Formats: sequence, C-alpha cells, structure tokens
Amino acid sequence: MESTQFHTALALLEWQAELGATEAIGDAPVNCYELPGTIAKPKAADQKIAGGPAAVAPAVDPVAAAQQAAGAAQDLPALRAALDGFEHCDLRRGARNLVFSDGIAGAPVMIVGEAPGREEDRAGRPFVGAAGQLLDRMLAAIDMGRTDDATPVYITNVLPWRPPQNRDPRPEEIAMMRPFLERHIALAQPKALVIMGNISAQALLGKRGITRLRGTWTDCCGLPALPMFHPAYLLRQPAAKREAWADLLSLKAHLTDG
Ligand code: URA
Repeated sequence: MESTQFHTALALLEWQAELGATEAIGDAPVNCYELPGTIAKPKAADQKIAGGPAAVAPAVDPVAAAQQAAGAAQDLPALRAALDGFEHCDLRRGARNLVFSDGIAGAPVMIVGEAPGREEDRAGRPFVGAAGQLLDRMLAAIDMGRTDDATPVYITNVLPWRPPQNRDPRPEEIAMMRPFLERHIALAQPKALVIMGNISAQALLGKRGITRLRGTWTDCCGLPALPMFHPAYLLRQPAAKREAWADLLSLKAHLTDG
C-alpha cells in the first residue's frame, strides 16, 4: 500500500473509532463505489409479491422542509426537537450528539459560532474545546459569561452537527440549517448578535471576509450584529487578539449605551 493510501485509510479508521465503532461486522468489504448497473435488481416475481415496481419517492426540497419545521416551532425546546427530528441533513448520521445551545436563553447577547468540533460533539454543548475555553476567557474579560454570575450570553452554531473530520460546512448544509438558525435567533430574542468567523458571516450575512467585516456593526435578522474573529483563529494567530479586544470593548459599550 502506498504511503498516501495508508494515511487516508488510517484517518478513516480513526474517524470511525472516534464515532464509537469498536469492531468490524462483516468479513467481506462492502464496495460503496459499485456502479448501479452491477447491483442485482429484484426479480419480476419479487416485485409482484411486493405490489409492483417500487413507487419513486417524491423529491423533497430540504430547505423548504427546514423552513416548515423551523417555522412550526413556537419555543426553543420545540425548535430543538424539530432539529432532532430533521432527517434531511446527512451530518447528523456521523455525529454523536445534536449540539443545540449553551448559556442563558433570553440573554442580551447571542453568539453564533460555526459548527461543533470533537469535544462539542461528545459533550452535546457548543464551544467546550480549546476555542471555547478561549471564548470563555474573552467574555470574562468584559464581565460576560454563560451563567447568571455575569452579563449572560447565549451560544449556538450555524450547524448543530459536527462535520466529518471538522471539514468546512458545505453551502447546501448551511442553506439547510439557515431557517433553523433564523428561527433560533427569533425565539431567543437577544438584543445583539455576535457573528463569529467566516462560516457564520457566510450563513447570516451572505458574505465572507471576516478580516474586513470584523469590528463593524451591521444589521442581521433585524438586530445589531458584530462580526468578530473566531476564537479558533485567535489560537492560531494570537496577534489578532488585539483586534478581538477592540471588538469585545465595542460589544460591551453597545450593551451599556444601548
Ligand atoms: N467552533 C465553533 O464554531 N463552535 C463550536 O461549538 C466549537 C468550535
């Protein structure tokens, strides 16, 4: 086996182990790439027994389904249940937990991150890994936090399920989750939004380029919104903490003055 093949196979194996696979269940490998023409078709006799050729399921528009499911939710627990029952996003099948929110519902500030990572997927809570710990320290510096001890915040992500191997969310996944995110914001009723990172800016503002967007208040879903660097970026680029600090002060001033 070539070295790249070996490393790809190893990464896939580690991913499955991370998802909880503990043993192989078949002796023969399943060829997921088999061409449809080579897969055995049911015999005519079998079709008769089953009541004729299988009816073709009507194509579902996942964005329309998301709009309907999200719009029907009248409170946050109902929205969580609607997401939990939403079958059109394949990410859910590779995730351990739905990561819905953390912090205090009804808090004046709602933070929108990107997607759960490994720690969040395990815990079922957003921002609990290294980036989350930095976020907590950033918030504490302006007397904010996830509990009532300080000015409370409410935290969610664009995607409620971890993408495989932390890959970037795909445009169709963002489009499918956007109705849920918009409903989440409407039901949580914050006074201001913090849009953390490029994926959140893409989902909520339809734009990328967080370096240019950050620090400038804008309107989003009818609310004042502040795009900021994502804490994971700050872990990689500590020099950008200077701008992040300016944005935190702007957030605090906005709440105090407004
Ligand atoms: N990064 C995010 O954007 N969200 C999380 O929940 C964790 C890391």
